[in-house]
Amino acid sequence: MDIKIGASILAADFSCLDKEMRRIEKAGIDFFHVDIMDGHFVPNITIGPGVVKDIRKVTKLPLDVHLMIERPLNWAGRFIEAGADCLALHIETISPSALRKQARRIKRKGVKLGVCLNPTTPLARIKGLFDLVDFVLVMTVNPGFGGQRFIYSVLDKIEALRVIYNGNIAVDGGITDITARKVIGAGANILACGTYIFKARNPKAAIRKLT
Ligand code: DX5
Ligand code: ZN
Repeated sequence: MDIKIGASILAADFSCLDKEMRRIEKAGIDFFHVDIMDGHFVPNITIGPGVVKDIRKVTKLPLDVHLMIERPLNWAGRFIEAGADCLALHIETISPSALRKQARRIKRKGVKLGVCLNPTTPLARIKGLFDLVDFVLVMTVNPGFGGQRFIYSVLDKIEALRVIYNGNIAVDGGITDITARKVIGAGANILACGTYIFKARNPKAAIRKLT
């Protein structure tokens, strides 16, 4: 499976976000990962659809919007209008039946749908959803902040998921050249990295070391 690399803009300097995004785009990534936090589902607040709409003007690369918010289905439409290409919703914030009901509506708009799992959330919670989603995003840190340490115990979950699911497995949190090797070995094929890419002295070389 092809490995795709995304840069999580949470690690960028937001005082010059457009410059930061252009700098990293030139270094050679496949997409930008955009973290949306509401201060309820996670203990941090980031940006809303208005800012995503402005970010949309900076790049033609896909925007992978990671919704770490309560009631994500109330907001999905707004983020799609703002220019999201992919939407990842946490299974801890929605019922599988609600997701099933809305999935077709989201995908009809040409948006890729992902279901996301916190490190301690068991795979059993998403088992019935594989036919609905374009990717499963497995958190490798507890969501809320960039720059955290990779949680190694999640590797078993990625391996177990790869056995029962042959679609795209994305990971997010604490990805470096060292942990990338582990997650790819376990079966992941989409990597979202914040700190490792944005804070690298040579982002191009850092990105190359991931695969
Ligand atoms: C964590 C976010 C991640 C984060 C990754 O809550 O969902 O996308 O930005 O950042 P790093 O790569 O620095 O762990
Ligand atoms: Zn994220």
